[in-house]
Amino acid sequence: MVRRLLVILLQALTGLLVILALWIVFHLAGNRSPPGPVVCANGTSGCTLTNIYGSFSDRAICRAANVTYPRTEQELVAAVAATVAARRKVKVATRYSNSFPRLACPGGEDGTVISTRWLNRTVRVDAARRLMTVESGVLLGDLIHAAAAAGLALPHSPYWSGVTIGGVLATGAHGSSLWGKGSAVHEYVVGMRIVTPAPASEGFAVVRELGADDPDLDAAKVSLGVLGAISQVTLALQPLFKRAVTFVNRNDSDIAEMVAVWGGLHEFGDVAWLPRRRKVVYREDDRVDVATPGDGRSDYPAFRPTPTLPLVASRLAEEWLEERGGTDAARCMASRVMPATLEHLRFGLTNDGEVFTAYPVVGYQHRIQASGSCTDTMEEDGLISTCLWNGRVRGHHFYNSGFSIALSRAPAFVADVARLRDLNPAAFCQIDSKMGLLMRYVRASSAYLGKAEDSVDFDVTFYRSYARGAPRAHADVFDEVEQMALYKHGGVPHWGKNRNYAFDGAIAKYPNAGEFIKVKDRFDADGVFSSEWSDQVLGIGGTSTAVVGDGCAMEGLCVCSDDSHCAPEKGYFCRPGKVFTEARVCSSRDAAAAAGGGGDRTSSG
Ligand SMILES: *[C@@H]1O[C@H](CO)[C@@H](O)[C@H](O)[C@H]1NC(C)=O
Ligand SMILES: *[C@@H]1O[C@H](CO)[C@@H](O)[C@H](O)[C@H]1NC(C)=O
Ligand SMILES: *[C@@H]1O[C@H](CO)[C@@H](O)[C@H](O)[C@H]1NC(C)=O
Ligand SMILES: *[C@@H]1O[C@H](CO)[C@@H](O)[C@H](O)[C@H]1NC(C)=O
Repeated sequence: MVRRLLVILLQALTGLLVILALWIVFHLAGNRSPPGPVVCANGTSGCTLTNIYGSFSDRAICRAANVTYPRTEQELVAAVAATVAARRKVKVATRYSNSFPRLACPGGEDGTVISTRWLNRTVRVDAARRLMTVESGVLLGDLIHAAAAAGLALPHSPYWSGVTIGGVLATGAHGSSLWGKGSAVHEYVVGMRIVTPAPASEGFAVVRELGADDPDLDAAKVSLGVLGAISQVTLALQPLFKRAVTFVNRNDSDIAEMVAVWGGLHEFGDVAWLPRRRKVVYREDDRVDVATPGDGRSDYPAFRPTPTLPLVASRLAEEWLEERGGTDAARCMASRVMPATLEHLRFGLTNDGEVFTAYPVVGYQHRIQASGSCTDTMEEDGLISTCLWNGRVRGHHFYNSGFSIALSRAPAFVADVARLRDLNPAAFCQIDSKMGLLMRYVRASSAYLGKAEDSVDFDVTFYRSYARGAPRAHADVFDEVEQMALYKHGGVPHWGKNRNYAFDGAIAKYPNAGEFIKVKDRFDADGVFSSEWSDQVLGIGGTSTAVVGDGCAMEGLCVCSDDSHCAPEKGYFCRPGKVFTEARVCSSRDAAAAAGGGGDRTSSG
């Protein structure tokens, strides 16, 4: 134990040296990269695009010939027209680029990126009709505060406020609710202005205005960015309301039944399950009368500015545990830190914006629904404090899998995960360490690429190496959980999360995908806004999102079907899953031994 501690200290010291070196590079060379996901070699040309994590799911480098930063709709139309005229591909990128897959990367190597960074104004608020129109680059946090200033509330949203409305809609992002229209932001869209390619006779680009009754809105409100560049969005809001939140801890003996009912009990209910601890944190969260006293606030600790030095040091410690000397005992001990810290901080809830005194925390919707105070640091170089996952400092690096399973099938999935946990509980310490499996509720949607049925969205964040193909402890168990969700229980991947293989064939589970493609062909016949990746996701052109080759399954690029897809030289072989035996996962000999040789079993599951 002492030796281990020494190693961690040593790694922390190395972290200090890395920071010092970074500081010297930044300040002496005077070569700070500008904040934002697009970095160009020469002003606005010779660019590379990345996401906030500094790396897409497949680690591909995305190159673009140039970037434009339109500030008005007119400039947006001109930017689209210029790329159409030049017969180049184009994609819209957002302020921080929060998606894991390469959705924002233009096709080819000489495409154009249009950033919505400066398309971030509120266009109009009609308080009487409860309508709000914003430009597509408005950040969720700014949107909900502008709405509140007019006495209005967006009833549901993701919890992280550093996303733009355009990005939220492109990826179908949501909060948690089965009540009313449910938690997906696109359910509240009643109008859009979108810039699409046009013939030369019309100036190469036009603005299409889609009203509430326009069937094309069902395509545009979840579009993966392939229909055109969203200029403006009109949202139907509600009178500003308050909600009352309590987090309740329980054991997980009835989690499989509870997942089916919790969303019906509470308007904003969600569930965080820590399988190793056999613990569940239920969010008991409901709308209350605005007269209810309380000015509570949520400032989720993991979305606050984190001091950079400890962040880099803790990442180094985690790397050591996950990739080198770690044992299950050490990993499981470490896995208690974050959930314990979050619970100690009451998940960032305060009763008056300053301190927590007691549950329930009652507050206005805009102060509870989303947070992201760390974005304030994103304009800086991140040397003092930063967002936990800012790819520009060597902080936390993880995968984020998100898949939705029909509400009726969710209990069976949860029961399967519990069976897998029972075979080797320690394998779930990594999942516990990042606050477990988060379950959020989403309703069926008329959006062609929205959910076909009322669903539970399972979200899990887990360790990712900075090194390509590096083995991770118990990676086989994560992969089996994912494959169970996708292939046994009919799950569909979240468009903005996940690794490549998860999208393979996913589009076939959307009954209205054909309608979507028809609209795409009408709006953008030449596929100017499409890329190889978006075509693969949409099942166009017959190639798969999976990338098959040596070691592909170690990175989630493929499902293994041969040992060479794992890392046989490092002791990882392609094996059936332990509960879902049709799964194919990379297992180490150690993992197989720990579960009593279960890795070699091929009995039915
Ligand atoms: C940078 O761009 C300018 C003008 O667009 C051009 O004249 C110059 O040659 C470029 N430099 C490099 C290194 O590409
Ligand atoms: C980007 O490159 C294309 C093709 O060369 C050109 O038509 C367009 O004007 C360029 N845009 C900017 C803003 O430089
Ligand atoms: C738009 O974004 C910029 C930073 O990119 C910020 O300085 C400005 O205040 C924002 N404008 C609005 C209206 O939010
Ligand atoms: C779980 O909690 C319930 C009460 O909420 C209790 O009846 C049950 O015994 C507990 N199960 C375990 C395994 O602790």
